[in-house]
Amino acid sequence: MWKNRRVLVTGGSSFIGSHLVDALIERGAKVRIVDDLTSGKLENIQARLAAGQVEFIQADLREPGITRAAMQDIQVVFHLAADHGGRGYVDLHQAGPASNLFLDGLVIWEAQKAGVEKVVFASSGCVYPNFLRSNPDEEVYLTEDVVKPPYDADNMYGWAKLMPELTLQAYHKEYGLKAASCRYFTVYGPRGVENHAVIAMIARAFVGQNPFEVWGDGSQIRNWTYVDDIVNGTILAAEKIDDGTAINLGTMERVQVIDAVRMVLEYTNQQAEIKFLHDMPTGPLNRVADNSLAKKLLDWEPQVLFRDGLQRTIEWYFSTKDKEQVKAILEGMLTER
Ligand SMILES: NC(=O)c1ccc[n+]([C@@H]2O[C@H](COP(=O)([O-])OP(=O)(O)OC[C@H]3O[C@@H](n4cnc5c(N)ncnc54)[C@H](O)[C@@H]3O)[C@@H](O)[C@H]2O)c1
Repeated sequence: MWKNRRVLVTGGSSFIGSHLVDALIERGAKVRIVDDLTSGKLENIQARLAAGQVEFIQADLREPGITRAAMQDIQVVFHLAADHGGRGYVDLHQAGPASNLFLDGLVIWEAQKAGVEKVVFASSGCVYPNFLRSNPDEEVYLTEDVVKPPYDADNMYGWAKLMPELTLQAYHKEYGLKAASCRYFTVYGPRGVENHAVIAMIARAFVGQNPFEVWGDGSQIRNWTYVDDIVNGTILAAEKIDDGTAINLGTMERVQVIDAVRMVLEYTNQQAEIKFLHDMPTGPLNRVADNSLAKKLLDWEPQVLFRDGLQRTIEWYFSTKDKEQVKAILEGMLTER
């Protein structure tokens, strides 16, 4: 199915993008990456570049002519490039994520003009209405159909994920462009960065932070999803969805932030006093996907339990990072991209 398919991965040197590139190359695809490296890292694709397995263009897709050139001879686009960061970034920055509105509009427009067969978009759990995700005592599982009027997305970042979903559905209906959107939920794994909660927890343990800082009161609920599961789901969506349907890719394992912190401390053999920072952004207090639509349409189910993925991620982090470098960047990373 992927052998010799000509594929463009925008944002392909990012955490998730680089894992997706690996998986597509392993399936035999011919991959082009366009990435401006504003948050992606060349080291994530270095092995593929050195082996001549990928075409890499370092450029900002918003600049004149770049997106048009990137689309030439492409059959499938995986659009992951975005102005995006973790919770601190999403809450504290609106202008950067607003630029995704025109980045996404441009990518979809140029894909259609170039005769691309299919566009797969990296959407987010941030499209879900804030009002459905505020009570940690409720056992809520978010089904795709609750994203409807009155829309109530999470900050500018969330609105700018919702708009391309709707744009792709409109392009499918009116122009016949095949499309799928994948709503990723809090992804973690090797190559993840410190602006996202799990990697931030691991980084704090790595530098021996004590007291160990936790944003909010730790009761926030998330469904952290391992990157390999996300990549498999994204490729299945490319294979099986044509009509722009948006699908949740997330586990249904409910984990409280404080429990994740305790697991990180246990797996890294640390003892630390926990200090709650009540004024820092927490995001929605209760956000977990329902993944039954992905099971039905893609035959996809997450394979990696949080405790296993967490251990793998800790092993990667501890074996590749330098303590002084992490100390130097950690505070800034928590609110920047
Ligand atoms: N990490 C998560 O938990 C998560 C959850 C939901 C959705 N997503 C989405 O998945 C995608 C990948 O995210 P990620 O966490 O792997 O890392 P990321 O945010 O670093 O990925 C974005 C990539 O796009 C590149 N980029 C940004 N603007 C660009 C531009 N104008 N032109 C070219 N390249 C540009 C960056 O350098 C980076 O490599 C993003 O679209 C993100 O919004 C991620």
